[in-house]
Amino acid sequence: DWTMRAFREEEIAKIRAQVGKGKVICGLSGGVDSAVAAVLIHEAIGEQLTCVFVDHGLLRLDEAKTVVDLFRHHYNIPLVHVDASKQFLGELEGVTDPETKRKTIGRLFIEVFEQEAKKIGGADFLAQGTLYPDVIESVSFTGGPSVTIKSHHNVGGLPERMNMKLVEPLRELFKDEVRKLGRELGLPEIFVGRHPFPGPGLAIRCPGDITRDKLDILRKADAVYIDQIRKHGLYDEIWQAFAVLLPVKTVGVMGDGRTYDYVVGLRAVTSTDGMTADFYQFDMKFLGETATRIINEVKGVNRVVYDVTSKPPGTIEWE
Ligand code: XMP
Repeated sequence: DWTMRAFREEEIAKIRAQVGKGKVICGLSGGVDSAVAAVLIHEAIGEQLTCVFVDHGLLRLDEAKTVVDLFRHHYNIPLVHVDASKQFLGELEGVTDPETKRKTIGRLFIEVFEQEAKKIGGADFLAQGTLYPDVIESVSFTGGPSVTIKSHHNVGGLPERMNMKLVEPLRELFKDEVRKLGRELGLPEIFVGRHPFPGPGLAIRCPGDITRDKLDILRKADAVYIDQIRKHGLYDEIWQAFAVLLPVKTVGVMGDGRTYDYVVGLRAVTSTDGMTADFYQFDMKFLGETATRIINEVKGVNRVVYDVTSKPPGTIEWE
């Protein structure tokens, strides 16, 4: 792709000019954006870059392994893998307000990056895979009054006291462009084609308070759902699909016993940039089969519902 080749060269020059001989820390989330940003910056400044993958305990099943494999083995880019799940889940205990969740997570990310920066003798820059829609949605709702819809944890600058400046080479791109750039940089298709995954992770797919038990249930249900979507060859038709664990228990019957377990919500949307979206029209047979699999394979769930809300008025994530 000619445009992306040009963009790549231009951005590399810009990154070199901005960073000089400075050191950069880049947070990887497991998503496409941060991976593309990291590979691009690595190409620009090589060993001046340290990539940090923070496991906040809010990741999908096997996520850490996928990311570590990609960076250490495929790219040979050094990667610091920090297990910060105790810290994150500890501070999130009892937190139910969506904005408080996001802000807590954002603050802890910064703390972890600061710690890691110290370990390498200080860093001058923090790199993030912020995209154009992240910038807009955190600032205002297009066409409406200027209100914050959601504070994307990775937008809005850094705390004053921090001595790091931001490097955000994707700030002008939309998702489809990031994917093109990722291909241009040789990222494997299976990674480039992945659905977006938000920085705050499963925290915003678990309305109400977050516990390890709920997260485990959610991770399993989500894995079954995505497996179903892949098996039916629907993955690439869908912009984003995921499971949500509702903070509600309902009564059910299994075998000859009464159950009282959680409800899983399934979400799938089509979109071109995440700014607007339509709910995906699965056939009922697929949904029925998926519900049965989730209830049979995931302990703690006895009911499954499908979200038929588009954006607007809904957002893609539930929080
Ligand atoms: P919403 O839920 O606002 O999501 O319709 C639009 C797109 O943005 C992703 N998203 C986030 N990504 N940090 C991120 O990195 C965040 O805080 C965040 N919130 C939402 C969401 O998954 C969807 O692709």
